[in-house]
Amino acid sequence: MAALLNKIRETVAYIQSVYGETPTAGVVLGSGLGNFTSELVVEKEISYQEIPHFPVSTVEGHTGRLVFGKLGDKRVVVMAGRFHFYEGYSMQEVVYLVGSEMCIRDRYPIRVMKYLGIETLVLSNAAGGVNEAFKVGDVMIISDHISQFMENPLIGKNISELGPRFPDMSEPYSKELRSRARSIAQQHGIVVQEGVYVGVTGPTFETKAEYKMIHAVGGDAVGMSTVPEVIAAVHMGLPVFAMSVITDLGHPGNEHVISHEEVLQAARAAEPKMTAIVKQLILEL
Ligand code: HPA
Repeated sequence: MAALLNKIRETVAYIQSVYGETPTAGVVLGSGLGNFTSELVVEKEISYQEIPHFPVSTVEGHTGRLVFGKLGDKRVVVMAGRFHFYEGYSMQEVVYLVGSEMCIRDRYPIRVMKYLGIETLVLSNAAGGVNEAFKVGDVMIISDHISQFMENPLIGKNISELGPRFPDMSEPYSKELRSRARSIAQQHGIVVQEGVYVGVTGPTFETKAEYKMIHAVGGDAVGMSTVPEVIAAVHMGLPVFAMSVITDLGHPGNEHVISHEEVLQAARAAEPKMTAIVKQLILEL
């Protein structure tokens, strides 16, 4: 059996030995959902460091944890602390790569959550807006993505137990969940945008010419996460819903120096809108 599959099973067995319930939904906390765990009745928290084979963030002091709990009558698992392609490979992952099996930080936890039993994956992120109608603080339902500059996460030997060699990508973001999210937003009086997320590796923000190109290829927003996680989820047949907070703008003529602090501040300001939509969406699953 594939070594990666064995590792996933060991990770899942450990988690199930300390938490016996099955979550319905998995939530990857990115910008915009920073305070989401306060909406839960928390049943169990497990630090990533404790979990066999689980990746640990390269950011000092941010080890991350899985939070298990109830949102109304729904059980969820929340990844508080996510991983990015730009973090590079750990030594352990380099070994997996040599063995031509991908066990990279940003997608391994998605595999694990699927094997824990989740039936829906929800993700959030911060993104730069290139659609001229967008403003800082807007929230955008991701309708589709363009993977730019990113190595496809499924390169390597395919593990057919996880999914097919050539997965269909005609609708990575569930149409039904998007439509439900739009009506929830309307009920709450929240204005939402909807558009195409262009995934880049980062960690640099874009040059003026790159923002222009992202707009020209059909992007509405650009960010450094989500795409590899969504590809892993779609590979396994997991329905996905994802939203971006527009934290800065790459409109031609409006470019200015972007700071990480500015991105975090805009994301915090948009948190109540995104939290309200995601919470209701999960309650209605
Ligand atoms: N570009 C890429 N990633 C981002 C941006 C951006 O402008 N804003 C927040 N994350």
